[in-house]
Amino acid sequence: MTDEVASTEGRAAIEDFYTEDRRFPPPEEFRANALVTDRSLYDQADADWQSFWEDQARSLDWFEPWHTVLEWDLPFARWFVGGKLNVSYNCLDRHVAAGRGDRVAYYFEGEPGDRRTITYAELLAEVERFANVLRSLGVERSDRVAIYMPMIPELPVAMLACTRIGAAHSVVFGGFSPDALRDRIEDAQAKVLITADGGWRRGSPVRLKENADAALEGTSSVQHVVVARRVTEIDGKPVPMTPGRDQFWDDLMAAADPSCVAVPLDSEELLYLLYTSGTTARPKGIMHTTGGYLTQAAFTHRYVFDLHPETDVYWCAADIGWVTGHTYIVYGPLANGATSVIYEGTPDYPAKDRWWEIVERYGVTILYCAPTAIRTFMKWGDSYPGSHDLSSLRLLGSVGEPINPEAWMWYQSRIGTGRCPVVDTWWQTETGGIMISPLPGVTTTKPGSATFPLPGIGAEVVDDDGKPVERGGGYLTLTRPWPGMLRGIYGDPERYRATYWSRFEGRYFAGDGAKVDEDGYLWLLGRVDDVMNVSGHRVSTTEVESALVDHSAVAEAAVVGAKDDTTGQAVIAFVTLKSGEAPSEERGEELRRHVATKIGAIARPKTVVFTEELPKTRSGKIMRRLLKDVAEGRDLGDTTTLADAGVVEEIRRLSAANPTEE
Ligand code: WT7
Repeated sequence: MTDEVASTEGRAAIEDFYTEDRRFPPPEEFRANALVTDRSLYDQADADWQSFWEDQARSLDWFEPWHTVLEWDLPFARWFVGGKLNVSYNCLDRHVAAGRGDRVAYYFEGEPGDRRTITYAELLAEVERFANVLRSLGVERSDRVAIYMPMIPELPVAMLACTRIGAAHSVVFGGFSPDALRDRIEDAQAKVLITADGGWRRGSPVRLKENADAALEGTSSVQHVVVARRVTEIDGKPVPMTPGRDQFWDDLMAAADPSCVAVPLDSEELLYLLYTSGTTARPKGIMHTTGGYLTQAAFTHRYVFDLHPETDVYWCAADIGWVTGHTYIVYGPLANGATSVIYEGTPDYPAKDRWWEIVERYGVTILYCAPTAIRTFMKWGDSYPGSHDLSSLRLLGSVGEPINPEAWMWYQSRIGTGRCPVVDTWWQTETGGIMISPLPGVTTTKPGSATFPLPGIGAEVVDDDGKPVERGGGYLTLTRPWPGMLRGIYGDPERYRATYWSRFEGRYFAGDGAKVDEDGYLWLLGRVDDVMNVSGHRVSTTEVESALVDHSAVAEAAVVGAKDDTTGQAVIAFVTLKSGEAPSEERGEELRRHVATKIGAIARPKTVVFTEELPKTRSGKIMRRLLKDVAEGRDLGDTTTLADAGVVEEIRRLSAANPTEE
């Protein structure tokens, strides 16, 4: 690798610098009991992917069978056409009917330490009652219901109750502002809003009802508000209720009829809307429907996590307000009859070992979380997981961002003590379920690679002209429809086509760069909008970040390309050190050298900015655009999706104090 300015002719869409030689075949102990240990699912799907998905759909209970597997009128798909089913029936009734009503569906742990164990029979009873509550409030099939709640059991109850009667839910993450909630309610024309007085986060109540009241000012579609009691009082007072509009959850439940039969719904019935939170553009209401979505949710949850529902205790530590929570806390696990943990609060309350305490208490066997959490735990140090018995764990998953190889290694060795396969799962709100991931009993993993498309999924990396790349970097595309795919953007079919299906003919593309290595493994390289252009080389932020995290003092790094007179763009690195490590000029110099040695001089950061925290969205994604603005000295745009707005000020101050190095 040299510093020379490359000719742009024949250049790759994204270049590929990082090499990784470590390999991890499935541990023998794990394989001995794994659901799949051979290539049979891949072979079956390769032979006929549509009949493969049909087989998976047969694991659900249908009231009426489908007559056509797939109607594909690019980019509009209809799966299992003619089939009728009900999601809540598949998630609840069929397990209870099969004698599994006493199995625990959820272990709920509130942030203050309160706990509830909810069996499948109990969950079904609550869902039936709440479905009747919704009906009593005038909710009918195909109406939209907005849900703005903390992570309490009433949240899945509300979602499942919607599915029982054929209403579509639109869950809005509890950390969103009144404006964000209002926009989403308006776009969906929601009839009812379900919220709570508050929720607990880091020891304080989140003012959900207050936000909901503010959101409802100036909107007219919502006729009723249901308020679950969670914090009881805010500032020493119960929350204000608007007469005629607002009612408490408990009061409505007490008055409701206990039985409600699940309505047979079309396979293509709208199941939910989930808005993707773009920082600039108007949010898109991603539409998911019933039969295909549940098929992929159940299939991926079973096989990616090697689920043994009789014995596993599964914990997906995401918020239900994101798609990860929809598919892998609610629909996938319940469809499979799994026992899950739901935790309301933050990982550092009351202390930084809260997660490991939870793993030990419930004997969690499968843990699914985001790289941002893993890197935060790395930063805090090994003593927190080290002080708990984590030997129940047998499988670890990651989702949401590229996982840097060193973070993967830390997860695998410190949390999994080398016994647990790690599955890095790539997917999106739009895909509905996992698309690229190892199968833990089959795939030899490489730290930092999501490996291969799952059986039935078609994924390819292509160059600027849409030609498949056999080795090297490019754009990640999906080559055929899949059952959990979005059916469109609510109210805007043209935007759906333009956003996802216009860049490469006949292919779905939603913005991620990726590379294929010499063994055909896929490596996600971050959003293509973030790719830097340094002296004509297209360098992925992910690879430079991974090179930084590879240094033993670094916990986390965010890299951006800032305008530069000489090189076009210069690499600017924002770095968080592990606790106990001190920033210094020498350290910065050492890190710059480390990147140059690890992946090449072209990627050497021009500036390293040390910072205590990185700006992140509430779902944990690093906000590189904001850092780029900081690095280029521009004014900051909308920062409302920040985890902590103070971080930005701190970063701005630090980067101003750090003269650009030449
Ligand atoms: C974007 C989708 C999928 C549920 C949570 C996020 C990034 C997601 C990975 C991964 C690299 C990943 C992509 C993707 N992403 N998983 N394993 N490796 N990047 O859902 O908010 O819709 O975000 O998250 O950039 O496009 P989302």
